[in-house]
Amino acid sequence: PEPPATTAVPQAGRPGLILLKRIGQIDPYSLDDYRANGGYEALRQAFTLGPAGVIREVTDAGLVGRGGAAFPTGRKWQATAAQPDRPHYLVCNADESEPGTFKDRVLMEGDPYSLIEAMTIAGYATGAHRGYLYLRGEYPRALDRLSHAIAQARARGLLGDDVLGQGYAFDIEIRRGAGAYICGEETALFNSIEGYRGEPRSKPPFPVEKGLFGKPTAANNVETLVNVLPVLTMGAQAYAAIGTPKSTGPKLFCVSGGVARPGIYELPFGATLGELLQLAGVHDDLRAILLGGAAGGFVRPDETGIPLTFEGTREAGTTLGSGVVMAFGASVPLPRLLLRIAEFFRDESCGQCVPCRVGTVRQEEALHRIAQRTGAAAADDIALLREVGRAMRDASICGLGQTAWNAVESAIDRLGAYA
Ligand code: NAI
Ligand code: SF4
Repeated sequence: PEPPATTAVPQAGRPGLILLKRIGQIDPYSLDDYRANGGYEALRQAFTLGPAGVIREVTDAGLVGRGGAAFPTGRKWQATAAQPDRPHYLVCNADESEPGTFKDRVLMEGDPYSLIEAMTIAGYATGAHRGYLYLRGEYPRALDRLSHAIAQARARGLLGDDVLGQGYAFDIEIRRGAGAYICGEETALFNSIEGYRGEPRSKPPFPVEKGLFGKPTAANNVETLVNVLPVLTMGAQAYAAIGTPKSTGPKLFCVSGGVARPGIYELPFGATLGELLQLAGVHDDLRAILLGGAAGGFVRPDETGIPLTFEGTREAGTTLGSGVVMAFGASVPLPRLLLRIAEFFRDESCGQCVPCRVGTVRQEEALHRIAQRTGAAAADDIALLREVGRAMRDASICGLGQTAWNAVESAIDRLGAYA
């Protein structure tokens, strides 16, 4: 097997890491290696606690979703477990496609058994016997390692009809995405698994009530699930002591762009944006930072005191999203960058609802025109962008349309683009 890729993890091997502790330190193809490094302790603990006990721990730990929306995981699991309708499903959203996001990839490639173990715990807690792992199609190395891990876990009684001899049946099937950003939206993802077009459904009803195949479903991001392992091995109280009272635990940040050491960084919530950029070796000519990816927003170099927490970024009028931090130097042409973002949303819109289907086209057209105009002439198009942006945000069915104007708006208002 190929050696594990550690270049994307500049902190690899550092003591004190929680989520990244095994990355680059174990052979991702070896179940024995995983077990010798703490693997499957959390599942044993889960069987001791029972399903309700696991949900209590996850709730008390304050764990919230790491895909970008920060919904309380314990609440999601409790709501799924309580549904009388059967069967229940567990879905792991591994369709990581937000530009600049590659944390789940590092976890799946470097520590694949941790996700298999965490999915088993989530299935046990929510009453599911079948888990679907929806994997981004462009992650062939993760596919190879996860497929191997699932087969090994099955062969060793860690998946199947009687997991660890505890009378609980659970198995996992991998489904690959086919390159559509929208299939990372949980209900479009369900449609994709079911064989339909990857178009989002209206919510409510939420997946906890009617999800995959119309049945109660807990859908969780890879990093969220992997966090359940330290919640159970450390205990909720110790886990909740990490970070801030409202954003607990460790967080992975995806740093790219104008830095000396791009890659995945693990920090407790509450570190500042500046501290993270220092770790990554930010270049002197920093002009702008994109927080939260294309769906997020730009901040200025003088705003690096922003604490990296869900509440701190919200108070600062921006978002943490999935943990994207892209640094741009003065040489990066902002109008070109904004056009690229607009092009991305226009291309990835599923076209189901008018505000997004038409709005993303109008947004791109206006940015094209602005790039060639100045002063008063550009002001008309900026006014148009605001109007179109408001319509997309207020009236789109899903997060893609609702956030397609975020980056452009923040570039105009915070960075003074086109001023
Ligand atoms: P959302 O806020 O609609 O939902 C978040 C989660 O909470 C979902 O699982 C939803 O089913 C659940 N939920 C919300 N209200 C609920 C209720 N009352 N009862 C039960 N469950 C409830 O956000 P969404 O659209 O799922 O995600 C948007 C986020 O995704 C954005 O913040 C964006 O940053 C992020 N994103 C991440 C990407 C990635 O590659 N990681 C790609 C694109 C977007
Ligand atoms: Fe499709 Fe865009 Fe509407 Fe979402 S907002 S359903 S991506 S058209």
